Amino acid sequence: MIKSKVLFVCLGNICRSPAAEAVFQALVNNKGFSDQFDLDSAGTNGLHDGENADARMIKAASLRDIDVPSISRKFVKKDLEIFDHIIVMDDSNYENVVKLDDGSHVHKVSKMTDYCSGEFSKYDHVLDPYFGGEDGFNHVLDLLDNACLGLLQKIS
Ligand code: 4NP
Repeated sequence: MIKSKVLFVCLGNICRSPAAEAVFQALVNNKGFSDQFDLDSAGTNGLHDGENADARMIKAASLRDIDVPSISRKFVKKDLEIFDHIIVMDDSNYENVVKLDDGSHVHKVSKMTDYCSGEFSKYDHVLDPYFGGEDGFNHVLDLLDNACLGLLQKIS
């Protein structure tokens, strides 16, 4: 089976994109689709290379029985070729990703909030929880729960 390769991208790859990868992984595991996907995440700034996800995100996700195993790495130009879908968290991530592209892979890049529905359709980016409190991490996870359902519908 040809797997769909999906990369989630944020700035530091320690809060939002590791959580997006983990929430989407949990969703496809629960649906029995895990053999259809290869998931990864990356950050555009590379400042946290080699680090685990932020402990606050690991804790907030674990309270929902979601494992966040990501080790931070920088987004690189080659990712544009390797992955079928590149899902960014905000407009700044989008700019940082597409500026590495020659124009031939831009169709693969979309924003996580493009897949939101219902009460979450009002959001146009995933808020960065890094400088805030616990609420921000829970908000990100709530939004990701909603968006990942839409993403799965779109790409499966
Ligand atoms: P993330 O959050 O992009 O959701 O991983 C951030 C984490 C760290 C930094 C910025 C955003 N930072 O600049 O250190």
